[in-house]
Amino acid sequence: MTTQIINLAFFTLSCLSLDIFWITIVTESLKIRINPDAVTEQVPINDKFFAIIVDDFLLNPDELLEYAKTHRSEFEISQRSYPGEVLDLEPGSVEQISRFWRSRLSRVFSFARIGIKDSCQISLTTLQPKDFSWIQRLPHTDSRRDPGKENIALLVYLFDNPDLGGTGFYRYRDIKFWESMKPKQVDDPDGGFSIVETRYPMFGDPPKYPSESNQAVELITMVPAKFNRMLCYSGDILHSAYIPDASLLSEDCSRGRLTLNGFASVWPKQN
Ligand SMILES: [Fe+2]
Repeated sequence: MTTQIINLAFFTLSCLSLDIFWITIVTESLKIRINPDAVTEQVPINDKFFAIIVDDFLLNPDELLEYAKTHRSEFEISQRSYPGEVLDLEPGSVEQISRFWRSRLSRVFSFARIGIKDSCQISLTTLQPKDFSWIQRLPHTDSRRDPGKENIALLVYLFDNPDLGGTGFYRYRDIKFWESMKPKQVDDPDGGFSIVETRYPMFGDPPKYPSESNQAVELITMVPAKFNRMLCYSGDILHSAYIPDASLLSEDCSRGRLTLNGFASVWPKQN
């Protein structure tokens, strides 16, 4: 009889543990879902590049925002030059984004459906311009991960305040000069600053995020931010977050410039 009571108690406890375990899994898991009815708009940037914009891109953007808030303490300073903190997402959370690269974006951007290397993260722009390396004062292209492959970038704005800034696309006024500067930053993000500073007096001004045209670059177009808007473009075009007022940035996911960012390294299609 005593053994039966103990067994019953153990069985009840096991079920309870299983319930707690299951509830934990369900609460913790994140599955990003894409809106199948969202409309894609193609926007030309220059004679070579274009971007695509999809409004109402996700079915569950609020869930993603909640996930970011719950996991805020796990964000880390980005290893790339991104001016803020990032949280990597597990492939299982972003299966639909991986499928989207293959099924839709491969057709739009003409890349192969095989050999796509993709990743996703949530990013919060937090860095104030006073803490920039000089290269962060300029727009950039995304460095290629694999020889022969191309980079495509995808981002979804997860904030409601458009004043926090959209994305700007630019051209260099003197591309040869900037290409000659690239090798100087391989080991040191501040490498070559004395040359740049001499050539461009604007580097004597207080640092700020790239926004309008300046001595070094010309703004081609700016895509305004909008909650749940997706923007996708080639990493080879000069681009940057367009942030006219960095004082609006916040460390708080509910008020800050929070984005979902996807990156894909892809094989261009052979014609
Ligand atoms: Fe970038």
